[in-house]
Amino acid sequence: MKTEISGVTIELRQGDIAQQADCEAVVNAANAKLETGGGVAGAIHRAAGPGLADEARPLGPLKPGEAVITGAHLLPNNYVIHCLGPVYGKDKPAGPLLASCYSRALDLAEQEKVTSIAFPAISTGIFGYPVEEAGMIAFTTILEEIPRLKYVTRIVYVLYSTEDLEMHKHMFAQLL
Ligand code: APR
Repeated sequence: MKTEISGVTIELRQGDIAQQADCEAVVNAANAKLETGGGVAGAIHRAAGPGLADEARPLGPLKPGEAVITGAHLLPNNYVIHCLGPVYGKDKPAGPLLASCYSRALDLAEQEKVTSIAFPAISTGIFGYPVEEAGMIAFTTILEEIPRLKYVTRIVYVLYSTEDLEMHKHMFAQLL
């Protein structure tokens, strides 16, 4: 599903965040220490190789809502933007902390003149954020940020399951 808003294409697709070769930057649902983990972090670090953690680790520890940018090492991208989402029920207020991940990631992308970026559904796996609630925050934040983007012209939102993709397509359509 693709939609264009003020010159920015937003695409929702099903897939693996570590295989988004048509995006200049990919976002990692990181841990505070910027090391490998499960889910998105595991897939990204496995595909990027140990050089990614070596570069990222000294930039941590991250606090919830923060983001940092590194090279992409063996991934088919130029940059990885590492965001620490809130742990649902622990890091509060969860909504603004999750929104901060998306706006800070876009800030870093703009800083490096990145034109395309792929996001996973931050915090909705191990960190337990309800998927639909998190999706609404992600989409609302992205839509709010669009008017100030100068370089980013394509935003891809990558859902791991077809079920999550269908749910997000429906939610996104409601926001337009
Ligand atoms: N590609 C895209 N999406 C994925 C992938 C993948 N390879 N693997 C999992 N997902 C989906 C999950 O289904 C979930 O909806 O990404 C979403 C985020 O899940 P997590 O990776 O668990 O991220 P998060 O909830 O932010 O938890 C971060 O998990 O891996 C650890 O070290 C990491 O402690 C950190 C925590």
